Amino acid sequence: MSENTNIESILTENRSFAPPATFVADAGINSEQQYQELWQHAKDDPAGFWGEMAENLSWFKRWDTVMDGEMPNTKWFTGGKINVSYNCLDRHLETERRNKAAIIWEGEPGDTRVIRYQDLHREVCKFANVLKNMGVETGDRVTIYMPMIPELVFAMLACARIGAVHSIIFGGFSADAVADRNNDAEAKVVITADGGWRRGKEIPLKAAVDASLEKSPTVEKVIVVKRTGGDIDMVPDRDFWWHDLMQDASAECDAVELDSEHPLFILYTSGSTGKPKGVLHTSAGYLLGTMMTTQWVFDLKENDTYWCTADIGWVTGHSYICYGPLANGASVVMYEGAPNWPDEGRFWELIEKYQVSVFYTAPTAIRAFIKWGNQWPEKYDLSSLRVLGTVGEPINPEAWMWYHQIIGQERCPIVDTWWQTETGGIMISPLPGVTPTKPGSCAKPLPGVVPEIVSESGEALGPNEGGLLVMAQPWPHMLRTLYGDHDRFIETYFSTIEGRYFAGDGARLDQDGYIWVMGRVDDVINVSGHRLSTMEVESALVAHPKVAEAAVVGFPHEIKGEGICCFVSLKEDEHSEELQAELIKHVREQIGALATPDQIRFSAALPKTRSGKIMRRLLRDIAAGRESTQDTSTLEDYTILAKLREEDD
Ligand code: WTA
Repeated sequence: MSENTNIESILTENRSFAPPATFVADAGINSEQQYQELWQHAKDDPAGFWGEMAENLSWFKRWDTVMDGEMPNTKWFTGGKINVSYNCLDRHLETERRNKAAIIWEGEPGDTRVIRYQDLHREVCKFANVLKNMGVETGDRVTIYMPMIPELVFAMLACARIGAVHSIIFGGFSADAVADRNNDAEAKVVITADGGWRRGKEIPLKAAVDASLEKSPTVEKVIVVKRTGGDIDMVPDRDFWWHDLMQDASAECDAVELDSEHPLFILYTSGSTGKPKGVLHTSAGYLLGTMMTTQWVFDLKENDTYWCTADIGWVTGHSYICYGPLANGASVVMYEGAPNWPDEGRFWELIEKYQVSVFYTAPTAIRAFIKWGNQWPEKYDLSSLRVLGTVGEPINPEAWMWYHQIIGQERCPIVDTWWQTETGGIMISPLPGVTPTKPGSCAKPLPGVVPEIVSESGEALGPNEGGLLVMAQPWPHMLRTLYGDHDRFIETYFSTIEGRYFAGDGARLDQDGYIWVMGRVDDVINVSGHRLSTMEVESALVAHPKVAEAAVVGFPHEIKGEGICCFVSLKEDEHSEELQAELIKHVREQIGALATPDQIRFSAALPKTRSGKIMRRLLRDIAAGRESTQDTSTLEDYTILAKLREEDD
């Protein structure tokens, strides 16, 4: 499937699927009119609307002002005192939820744990005391680099409980990436595990932390969960076992009363430069946004069994495994490992086993399922499913139809949710009991979200004209800053279009008011739903002693959505397969396995314009095997272009 045919199929897509009548009958929001009223109310009077919504949270002290100041520096619920962990835990204990399963966990090897709300509260309180005993204070930063085990959620909520700011790093990042993030956040403590399981192999997390600490001087202590039992080094007075520390910890720990705008977490994400950005989210607004969007988008019911397959190392896991569902008192399935371990039926087996009713995954996973074949889902009973979701990248209509027919059995509404690390929570999505869905479209904005599609000069565009996707109004769960770099925050998101939030996507609005996101318009690529900056990979490549110059572009990839193609010119002419393999390994070491290049192409020099800019569009066309339509008259050196073409043949 080439990018062209994909975009074409999205452009010509005209199927539409109304929510089934039986679903509508039970849905929380179940008429177009109800949605319209909510949306209009939130647009006309955002402070009134979000103030009403905030009644759903537990406050130590009520806010004075709902919306304080203009975008981009809007503060929310100022004057209020709140605690996110209290809202995810303590308030449920006063209800019949106290014995409800909060986390239904399954490890990759098949070990299981069910953690009730009461258990979760106890473990979080104990670990919060452990952190305090380690000297962690309100406002301190804590790095979390863990596999998908319950202790990861305990650690997040324990930080939230005492007002420490967590910075979670996905386990697929390398030691160098961990060091960079430790340093940027000036983390005091790192929480990790000996390792985690992935396709039967151990991911050596502690070893990576050890290597990272050689370059991260701010880190004083490391707390290690024993997960795999693998061989690791423990440094005396620096490294401590989780289970030792927990043994003596008290289970009494009051949630600290924090300002609404107290920082909750930093999450690093890729932007268009080489240096990852520390997206900062705060307490009340983020909590409210994730809580309400979980209710609206998944039509969450008290007895749902909810499973989001993301890793908590990404924002989807933060907002829709941990904070959103737990604030709603939901039962959340959490799975440690790979979808194809021990076989390709693992996800469907889990759905049958735990009677999952809400299932939220990524298009890249769906494309892999399609490739693995229908025999896997067909072996299992999927009749417990009610709602299906996708997130992370545009879904091609063919993958959408497969999800609808084979997994949803034409019974389950699909919510294609558009949002970003920066937006904190879902922004644009169908409502399952309201919106007729069109395969490939994320449909309409949620209440409180006011998107526009504009030209590069900021003018509104007509139906079906492609442009930039921007937000005209602030929302409570938007990022507040880039950690330590407010100027970059303003520059990145608020300087492209006057008075608007812009985070890099192109989109169009169809004649029915449906939004179709076409993908990034900056140098960010989306590899298996993971955001990666091409510049990040370029800086990794040029850090190799043999590389003179590198240009990295995405190309259409059948499973990953986009693959990584690297054009490399060397200091000396020594092209070889060994060097290709070495460069691939080098990038993995610098960034992590998720940035593994799919192709390394050597080239004597890179094509540049007269002013010295690398001609990326041309390289993208070459990587995709497309004939370039671009005018090449500004090419500095035609022979370079010709040479690249030859290598392509
Ligand atoms: C893309 C993930 C099309 C988009 C939650 C965005 C999507 C980037 C969708 C954010 C969707 C996410 N349809 N594209 N439903 N959801 N994207 O920060 O390009 O990892 O800018 O957040 O993913 O990626 P991030």
